[in-house]
Amino acid sequence: MRLVFASNNAHKLSEVRAIMPADVTVLSLRDIGFEAEIDETGSTLEENSLIKAQTVWDFINDGLEVDGVFADDTGLEIDVLGGEPGVYTARWYTHEPTLTLPMGKGVTEEMMNFQCNRAKALRELEGKEDRGCQFRTVITLIKSNPTLPKEKEIIQVEGVVRGHITTEEHGTGGFGYDPIFIPEGYDKTFGELPAEIKNHISHRARALEELVKVLQNL
Ligand code: IMP
Repeated sequence: MRLVFASNNAHKLSEVRAIMPADVTVLSLRDIGFEAEIDETGSTLEENSLIKAQTVWDFINDGLEVDGVFADDTGLEIDVLGGEPGVYTARWYTHEPTLTLPMGKGVTEEMMNFQCNRAKALRELEGKEDRGCQFRTVITLIKSNPTLPKEKEIIQVEGVVRGHITTEEHGTGGFGYDPIFIPEGYDKTFGELPAEIKNHISHRARALEELVKVLQNL
């Protein structure tokens, strides 16, 4: 089976390829020559992962020989904030323009973005006892229907890891909110835990396991 994963993120691609069964070939957007930016205009993780998968599906439907496409979208959902930042997780700090960090040598825009987001999370939870939260990943798979090849099938799965936000940063591993997120059952952040542990229990890993179950039952 050949599936397109609607991403060019090297970290995600290697995670996905490590979890997928050997008989599934995972192609990146670069592999299929897809270069456009996809506007994530949805108001939920479900909508955004569908938008990404649908956009790439329309592209591959123009003639590429693949069996389907899947896309992921992840959000950090903080209990006392009613599930925020959720769909706005990637650029949460931009909702508070005063919170900016100067660009230094060797600091990429992405690193600055992650750092500002973490600073915002710590600030939002300052003095709060309830620091519970979860990462949630939604994956949308679009594939052709074997009995009606012109029709498509849409399947959504999700993966969740519960945990809490620390009061300060610990560790430098991973990315995004990892240095301030301690998963349930552990006493270290994702930024401190070895990548093998994170990749085993993470929201994305769990969503991918659900996707594999779906693929095995096709
Ligand atoms: P995406 O939908 O996978 O691009 O994730 C959206 C945002 O969620 C990212 O920009 C990160 O800030 C955050 N995020 C996603 N996955 C992780 C993770 O495994 N650890 C920490 N932050 C994450």
